[in-house]
Amino acid sequence: MFNFRRKEEHNLEKIPNHIAIIMDGNGRWAKKRLQPRVFGHKAGMETLQEVAIAASDLGVKVLTVYAFSTENWSRPQEEVNFIMNLPVEFFDQYVPQLHANNVRIQVIGETSRLPEATRDAMERARVKTKHNSGLILNFALNYGGRADITNAAKLIAQEVLDAKLNPGDITEDLFSSYLMTSSLPYLYRDPDLIIRTSGEQRLSNFLSWQASYSEFYFTPTLWPDFKKEGLLKAVSEYNRRQRRFGGV
Ligand code: FPP
Repeated sequence: MFNFRRKEEHNLEKIPNHIAIIMDGNGRWAKKRLQPRVFGHKAGMETLQEVAIAASDLGVKVLTVYAFSTENWSRPQEEVNFIMNLPVEFFDQYVPQLHANNVRIQVIGETSRLPEATRDAMERARVKTKHNSGLILNFALNYGGRADITNAAKLIAQEVLDAKLNPGDITEDLFSSYLMTSSLPYLYRDPDLIIRTSGEQRLSNFLSWQASYSEFYFTPTLWPDFKKEGLLKAVSEYNRRQRRFGGV
């Protein structure tokens, strides 16, 4: 495995601090191989592991991955059950290597609605790695961008009702601190780069607020085929872009 730890080995000037990925195309990848859709999710988890280690080697600070959206419950029950069981396998098979690489695992989303075994596996991964200081691998599980914003609005409304906050104090920065991404280090809450695989070019309710100034990278590659080369290509493309944040 090649190592990107030294700049001379990847030749990239700018490494995005926070990369967010919509890991799309697992089902189509499996279908092309005449396999059931869940076969694609399993391959997708392998790719996620490779990409997380590569991101960690590159010096990325946060990698947020859309593992299950609030809309994904409408999939066939068998597929939902399979995805819900992935964290259990993830904990046993993948967390040890991530832990050895100083990766810290975190979760955003409405986790209270997840099956107990799923929640428990993610919680074990979080606790086991919570003292690690390297890449934060942030799973968005049962996450929805609008739900995130609505929930923040509710929390703020309650603080106003309790007279702990004045409406005039509500700034964008304060609002951000009520979003689920407030669990991330302050400087890295918003993604610098959002990647979506499989040719779709939409945000699909992922990090709606946080994506305001993100660069987008779309690729026709299906998620299981993305691999570390895919990550390098996306970061190279990011290096060719000039971010101006509304300035000139
Ligand atoms: C989208 O592809 C993929 C998902 C909904 C699930 C992605 C989950 C993983 C890669 C593993 C996550 C790991 C853990 C530990 C939770 P799709 O099914 O929409 O593909 P299609 O568009 O080709 O049908």
